Parts: sequence; C-alpha cells; structure tokens
Amino acid sequence: MPKKTIILGVTGSIAAIKAENLVKRLKGIGRVIVVMTEAAREFVSPERLVKVSGNRVVTGLFERYRKEKTCLPAGRETVEHISLAEEANLLLIAPATANIMAKLVNGIADDMLSTLVLATQAPILIAPAMNTDMWENAIIQENVTKLKARGYGFVGPVYGRLASGRMGKGRLAPLGRIVKESEKILKEKKELIKKRILITAGPTQEPLDPVRFISNRSTGRMGYALVQAALSRGAEVTLISGPTQLLPPSGAEVINVQTAKEMRREVLRNFKKADVFISCAAVADYRPKKREKKKIKGERNFTLELERNPDILKEVSKKKGKRILVGFALETENLIKNAKAKL
Ligand SMILES: Cc1cc2nc3c(=O)[nH]c(=O)nc-3n(C[C@H](O)[C@H](O)[C@H](O)COP(=O)(O)O)c2cc1C
Repeated sequence: MPKKTIILGVTGSIAAIKAENLVKRLKGIGRVIVVMTEAAREFVSPERLVKVSGNRVVTGLFERYRKEKTCLPAGRETVEHISLAEEANLLLIAPATANIMAKLVNGIADDMLSTLVLATQAPILIAPAMNTDMWENAIIQENVTKLKARGYGFVGPVYGRLASGRMGKGRLAPLGRIVKESEKILKEKKELIKKRILITAGPTQEPLDPVRFISNRSTGRMGYALVQAALSRGAEVTLISGPTQLLPPSGAEVINVQTAKEMRREVLRNFKKADVFISCAAVADYRPKKREKKKIKGERNFTLELERNPDILKEVSKKKGKRILVGFALETENLIKNAKAKL
C-alpha cells in the first residue's frame, strides 16, 4: 500500500507543544507534512518538526514561490498551496485555535493553512484546543456547528486540566484518539467514486396566497446527512432541497426548490444521469387548488380545496432501469405494511 499523505496544520494554541509527539504518532499511519501558522511558531520550532516528520515544514504562503520563481519558466511558478492541496489524503488541524475555525467559516485565506483548506478536496479533521470560556463562547459554538454542517470532522476537545491550571472542557483530545480518528478517515472506503447520486431532502411548501403555505415538519437533516455520507465515500452528489434551515455540505451540487412541482421538474431533469436516487424529501401530497394572488383576509370561514401533487418517486420508478431507488415512508400506524405497499 502506498503511504497516505497527512497534512498536519498546527496553529497557535499552547497545545502546539504536543505537535512533536503527534507527528511521531501520525507517522505510524502515513507520511506527514506539517504546515504551521505564524502563531504556532511561538510554541514549537519548525526545525524540530522537520526532524521528527522527516519532511519539509511549511511556514509561509509565499516561501517556495519566493525561492523558485526566478528559476522556473514564466507562468510555471510553483503554487505550493495547490500542490499540497492535491497531495493531501487528509488535512488534520491539531491543535486548532478559535481563530482558525472562525477563518474557515468565513472562507478567509490569509496564510498557508487557511488557503490550503479552501483549495483541498481532502477530508478535513479538526482537533480544537482552547480555554473553557473560549470554547463555550456562543460565536465559537456557532462556528463549530457551521463547520460540522459543511462536512468537517471534529475530534475533541475534552474535559481535563487546561494550561491555566483550571479543569474544564477545551483540552486537546488525547493524541491516540486523534491518530485513531485520522486512521479511520484514511481507511474510509471510496466505493462510490464515479457514482452519481441524486438526493432530495426537506419539506416542500405549497403556497395558498403570497404570504401563506402548507407544509410539513421535515427538517431535511436526514437527507443532508445522506449527502455527507455519500460525499465521504467519493460519490458525485446532487441535492435537490426544499426550504430548510441547514447549510448545504460543501462538495455537492445544490438545487433549491419550494414546491412539489418544482421538485418534480428538477428530479426529472437530473434523474437520467443518476446511478442512485434517494427520495428523502417529505413532498407534500397535496397543494391548494387555487393560489390567491392577494392575501386571503381573515374575516370569514372558508374551505380550502386541495389537489393531489405528483408522486415523484412513483413516476421515476417507471423509468428505473438499472438505477437503485430508495424511498422513505413516514407512517403513523401499520408501519411495515404501509411501507411495503409503497415499495
Ligand atoms: C500563551 C498563549 C496561549 C494561547 N493558547 C490558545 C489556545 O489554546 N487556543 C486558542 O484558540 N488560542 C490560543 N491563543 C491565542 C492564539 O494564539 C491567537 O488567537 C492567534 O491569533 C492564533 O493564530 P492562528 O490561528 O493563526 O494560529 C493563545 C495565545 C497565547 C499568547
């Protein structure tokens, strides 16, 4: 087996003093190239990490460019963040500061590590380390939630003694756990490479006037989780999503729709090229027969007439061919019987 390449991003947390040991242990599962931020250099020297990793240690975005631009033909300058991005089988950031996470959430690329994260297709694993009050700060928690929604993996932080001497959550996860998580990602089977997977998610909204709609309680979370799982196995994913509060995972093509009719149109448009169709959306069975142009006034009782929406899954199942089709049935009674009838 050729050795997998792990790019280890080390940032300016005091836990960076553990980087040397982490590199030693990571070498058991792959080849390690360290990328350090400016602040990380306050805690650990690049020279030591060169020694333990047996590889170059990258400390600046323009380092190689400055050195090599004069000896390469015009237009063929070395762009190291791209070559590193392509080389990586895993980008592990350990320890990860509050600062690097905030930069990643916002797509800021002002040093080698943050630029590399934007450029790479490799899976990203983050091991945060910071003081408890920082970790519990609402802004940081929001950033962590956003990064998880985008498909970034997390390991730790854990409860324990912090650099300040206090006990609390914020300590870097044990190195053994970081290595184990990294190994798990490196071993992930990419059995869906070149497979095209079409997934629908979320509810549909069926307007009855310009300000109201009927809908259902679907959050979209299952469909979005399926998108992430398919991406991590190497699939090319198209997500057709009804309105949700979720951030789409990076790496998927996302098509936003509102109504069942719109969802049908997009499914039909994308179905042909799909190898697998997972119909996870909670498509409204009915829509108001008439969509009022003006807001319905709340002065009198009225009866709302509904008409059937298209059954998208049933329709495409007639053109199934060799595709795999997956449907879901949410029932209130006779679960198996009803699900079988749908199948
Ligand atoms: C002694 C010391 C220890 C620090 N430890 C941490 C830490 O554990 N976690 C953290 O998020 N920031 C910590 N910081 C703050 C970061 O170094 C600072 O936010 C810096 O800008 C991070 O830069 P970087 O993310 O580019 O590495 C520490 C600062 C100092 C002076």
